[in-house]
Amino acid sequence: MSDRRDFLKKSALLGLTGLAADLIGKDKLSSMENTVNFLADDNAKKFTVPKLPYAYNALEPYIDTKTMQIHHDKHHQAYVDKLNAAVNPSNMNFDLDDDMKCRTVNMGTDMVIRNNLGGHYNHSLFWSTLKPNPKGAPNDPSGLLMEAINKNFKSYETFKNNFSDRAAKFFGSGWCWLVVLEGSTLNIVTTANQDNPLMELGTAPAKPILGIDLWEHAYYLKHQNKRADYIAAWWNVVNWKKVEELFSKGFHR
Ligand SMILES: [Fe+2]
Repeated sequence: MSDRRDFLKKSALLGLTGLAADLIGKDKLSSMENTVNFLADDNAKKFTVPKLPYAYNALEPYIDTKTMQIHHDKHHQAYVDKLNAAVNPSNMNFDLDDDMKCRTVNMGTDMVIRNNLGGHYNHSLFWSTLKPNPKGAPNDPSGLLMEAINKNFKSYETFKNNFSDRAAKFFGSGWCWLVVLEGSTLNIVTTANQDNPLMELGTAPAKPILGIDLWEHAYYLKHQNKRADYIAAWWNVVNWKKVEELFSKGFHR
């Protein structure tokens, strides 16, 4: 299975349960590993934006209400709308089970699908790995994830500093990720635009378990050009329990 094809299948689970089931079979869907399967609508025959598991204002003062409304309702919705227009079930131009057609997608000839499926996947993961922290309580990982971070990055502080530095210095629009490589090794990677570490990007595919949106639409209303301030605020609302859950499933290609 190509990595891009794998990505497409996993992404399908985000909000395309009905269509994906039609395409690849419910047995395969239910048995897939490493999926980020939130809030899919079994009856939907199209991709859908998952509802936020908290209120628009719940991430204040770290991520402002207006940004959340526009980001979720307008930006994410736009990716989903364009994706649905590109992969209308009655007008499919690729088949998730067809290697040749998926290879065509993989080679980037259909940038509409690549960009918008990536945008849907990335944002769905982003919302799920945030949580309110109104009192500004200390917010750190625990358990096996903390052990793995300490092992892979020498210390949690080193990890946070490295991640923040990579995110702050990334040029243009994209994402910074904490990923799991095969064998449960952790790494920090960045991807441009709406690409994703699951895609074939010249390096070994990896499973993203935490990501920060570095597009200006994610922070410009509150922080303007000060991306570093946004990154520092974002750490306060990371949903480490969700990240730990994703980490615990490992990555098996
Ligand atoms: Fe975004």
